[in-house]
Amino acid sequence: MSHDHLRKEVDESGGGSILRRYSSPVVSAKTSVSMKYELKNLATGKVAELNALSGTLGPDALDISHLNRDLGVFTYDPGFMATASTESKITYIDGDAGVLLYRGYPVEQLAAQSSFLEVANLLIHGSLPTNAQLREFQTSITRHTMVNEHLLRFFQGFHHNAHPMAMVSAVVASMAAFYHDTMDTHDPRHREIFAHRIIAKLPTIAAAAYKHTLGQPFIYPRNDLSYCANMLNMFFAVPCEAYAIDPVAAQAIELLFILHADHEQNASTSTVRLAGSTGANPYAAISAGVSALWGPAHGGANEAVLDMLDTIGSAANVGKFLTRVKDKSDSVRLMGFGHRVYKNFDPRAKIIRAMCYRVLDKLGIGNDPLFELALILEEIALKDEYFVSRKLYPNVDFYSGIIYSALGIPRSMFTVLFAIARTAGWVAHWQEMVSDPHMRIGRPRQLYAGPRQRDYQPIAARSA
Ligand code: CMC
Repeated sequence: MSHDHLRKEVDESGGGSILRRYSSPVVSAKTSVSMKYELKNLATGKVAELNALSGTLGPDALDISHLNRDLGVFTYDPGFMATASTESKITYIDGDAGVLLYRGYPVEQLAAQSSFLEVANLLIHGSLPTNAQLREFQTSITRHTMVNEHLLRFFQGFHHNAHPMAMVSAVVASMAAFYHDTMDTHDPRHREIFAHRIIAKLPTIAAAAYKHTLGQPFIYPRNDLSYCANMLNMFFAVPCEAYAIDPVAAQAIELLFILHADHEQNASTSTVRLAGSTGANPYAAISAGVSALWGPAHGGANEAVLDMLDTIGSAANVGKFLTRVKDKSDSVRLMGFGHRVYKNFDPRAKIIRAMCYRVLDKLGIGNDPLFELALILEEIALKDEYFVSRKLYPNVDFYSGIIYSALGIPRSMFTVLFAIARTAGWVAHWQEMVSDPHMRIGRPRQLYAGPRQRDYQPIAARSA
């Protein structure tokens, strides 16, 4: 492409480089190239051409992979605010419009009509399964729910008040020790067995962590129950009496799992991809994802929201609390509000909010004080200039904890449930990455700001 195709200057950096945009008919084998941009070092006149890659939806992404070769510079983008780390066909988010699609299907439609296992199958395989395919998948997941007895004994090593996320992360990583020799990441059948095992066993591991904190005996999985009903049974049944699974509870969990199943290149999914890109055992990569999810800025927010509501205590204190949130010298944030991608209502939050009403009504606690406080907080925040100007809306975690809490699930388990659901997405992304013949190890660069080279000083020669 010659430089005569220059169309429009789109950006200028103070660092002496200029970025121009060209139209281009060039199409690569992988992704179509819609435009070419030119990045010029204004001091030397040296120019690099950058392809703008077009996906099926969303903004183009500049291919900067040859930038260092062509201009001897890297790009700098802390927090990946403007960097696409990969091409992916799994999930699409339009944060301004509040759109979330799994393999092209709106999450609202899946939430209303699908099941978690169907969604997991969709995420992994790319299209909705036939009846026979879904049955086969469900049967395989059901038959993989038990975990090795030796693995269960690991829980004995944890203190009774260990955080369940720490236990789940450790036990999932330990699965690598059980399945290392039978896990060839280049073998599609091995990858499939891994996918089924991890999706099937996560609820069992989560329930074992919960039972350990209670000091109750572990309840084995039941193959006659659905995925979510089985999880509830493992959580709440005890050997000495019958446990009736509430269909409303199972339905609410199913819905929450569908909504949490994937969210493209979020922090935990990127962690799974990065760890997996080294060729690491995938159970270890999923464990890394569990750890990344735990943070309060990510999946740990559902737990933090309820702690926050407790701290606020009552509607009378909302104003005082929001004053703290808006004070930049105070580190307090309105948990469950804001999102890196959504600058509009999180579509998942809208669905969960409606589910909240249904669950609380069905359980006869429609006037749950925490929910009422959350609604007041939401109403005030949505009218407040601080939140309006920053486009901060309630996210998925603002309400999910209220539902989990109403179902009797303790706070420390909220993020574990998020991890069970997100495992479907992590697996789909790991599969997509390792089956790509162009896969490379993930290895970002840095802008070094430390000391220049200096000579070692013997300790006696150092001043205090
Ligand atoms: N409370 C108060 N101020 C906020 C909040 C909040 N929850 N979120 C963002 N802001 C402010 C922030 O201080 C900044 O203001 P300014 O421009 O004056 O410096 C501005 O909004 C932009 O925020 P940011 O931190 O640059 O945005 P980010 O994209 O880096 O962070 C976030 C996204 C989700 C980490 C952040 O909104 C947050 O901490 N929210 C609370 C935690 C939370 O609910 N997390 C769950 C996310 S949804 C579940 C998931 O997918 O993980």
